[in-house]
Amino acid sequence: MFGYAMKNNLKILAIETSCDETAAAVIGEENSRPVILSNIISSQIDLHAKTGGVVPEVASRAHMEAIVLVVSMALIQSVGDEFLISNQFPINSQFDNETVKQSNNEEYQKAIKILRDEIDYIAVTAGPGLIGSLLIGFNAAKSIAYALDKQIIPINHIEGHIYSALASRVNSWWPVAGSQLSGPQTTNHKPQATGNWKFPTLALTVSGGHTSLTLMKDHGVYEQIGATLDDAVGEAYDKVARLLNLGYPGGPAISKLAEQFRNKFPIINYQLLIKSQLSIPKNKYSNVAIKQCSNKEMPLDISFPRPIMNDDTFNFSFSGLKTAVLVWVKKYLVENKLDSVDQIQMGVKEEVAAAFEEAIKDVLATKTMRAVKRFKPKAVVFAGGVSANQYLRSQIELGIKNYELGIGFLTPSSGMFGDNAAMIGLAAYHHIKRGDTRKWNEIEIDSNLEL
Ligand code: KG4
Ligand code: ZN
Repeated sequence: MFGYAMKNNLKILAIETSCDETAAAVIGEENSRPVILSNIISSQIDLHAKTGGVVPEVASRAHMEAIVLVVSMALIQSVGDEFLISNQFPINSQFDNETVKQSNNEEYQKAIKILRDEIDYIAVTAGPGLIGSLLIGFNAAKSIAYALDKQIIPINHIEGHIYSALASRVNSWWPVAGSQLSGPQTTNHKPQATGNWKFPTLALTVSGGHTSLTLMKDHGVYEQIGATLDDAVGEAYDKVARLLNLGYPGGPAISKLAEQFRNKFPIINYQLLIKSQLSIPKNKYSNVAIKQCSNKEMPLDISFPRPIMNDDTFNFSFSGLKTAVLVWVKKYLVENKLDSVDQIQMGVKEEVAAAFEEAIKDVLATKTMRAVKRFKPKAVVFAGGVSANQYLRSQIELGIKNYELGIGFLTPSSGMFGDNAAMIGLAAYHHIKRGDTRKWNEIEIDSNLEL
């Protein structure tokens, strides 16, 4: 179970295919710290947007088409070169058989050489996730480890998300969404992972498939203190977006509408209001005071439930919230004699989105603060696809800083909120440092893997 002798400046090829992103990355080491040398993501979002959600069989087939190209790109970019066809694709585009056919065989040969000569370890997501998706990356990683006699490190996807915050607070060369794929601009400007992570760390991991609070006592030492009893936060966003016909994935669409509502009607946190002793007129809108309202457009005063927010556990439940939105929308359609959600005015959809996001924010912030008070962590990590939400990030951070300024607040750098393989490689780096590596025939996959 424990690995070969460790060498300095090791290199790890990491692979992640647990849901709808085919991802590969190479992690290197400089000054005894991990650095991200490349991070390639081929997203299937366009494919799943057609069906309004991930269809597992479609996802695994798409992983199969993309995996070799994605791994090859990560290898080639890790040495500072460009895979020639990279320039033709927007970041996060989907690589299919046609893309693969366009690429040139010499480049694959070069990738194989890097894999054989420079990569020391293979890291791969072993669960949790969609089994058909996991199998593609897992089998690719296992085959490489077998054929090239390299040690392998199976990583829990949630552990990966937690480690994505390790790459925060660094200058990164990630291209911003919408730009072209590109590798490191200069070799001396790589994102450097921070080495001074303080324990215990409390991690709130929120994505399309998971919502959990984990107490991390040291690298590799986890205690899950709470999890969702039903839907994950991202899943609730996606379902509410589908209900309002806003497309897939729902998180970005809902958060954009909610933001538009807050720009018109700034929502003021009562506690801050009381602290600042400002007399701001309170209107009928539940739980908020509204600074300025035009007379023409008044909010409808929508308020959704905050399920199990005030129990004394660290668990979550979001399916009742999603149902409350459904019931509200149905009632609104009947009362306003509308036939479909497409006839609902944008201003009303914005308010539904904002009221939904307020409920999510209150539950996440309340549960996190309860855990902060109980476990007194030195740092709080907020990670997973939903942590891309700027409002949730700022509000959770505000709660923590208001309580105690000294607690660190870590979130992933942009480009690493959602699923990626760099986070899997960063987690693997610390397993390697503990000597926890395996042979290809000692690893197992588990779609319900627990931390
Ligand atoms: O971590 P991730 O990429 O994949 C899973 O492991 O599930 O998370 C994807 C989830 C989706 O449900 C998506 O709607 C949500 O993250 N998401 C957001 C935002 N951006 C993505 N949720 C809320 N606000 C956002 N800005
Ligand atoms: Zn994820």
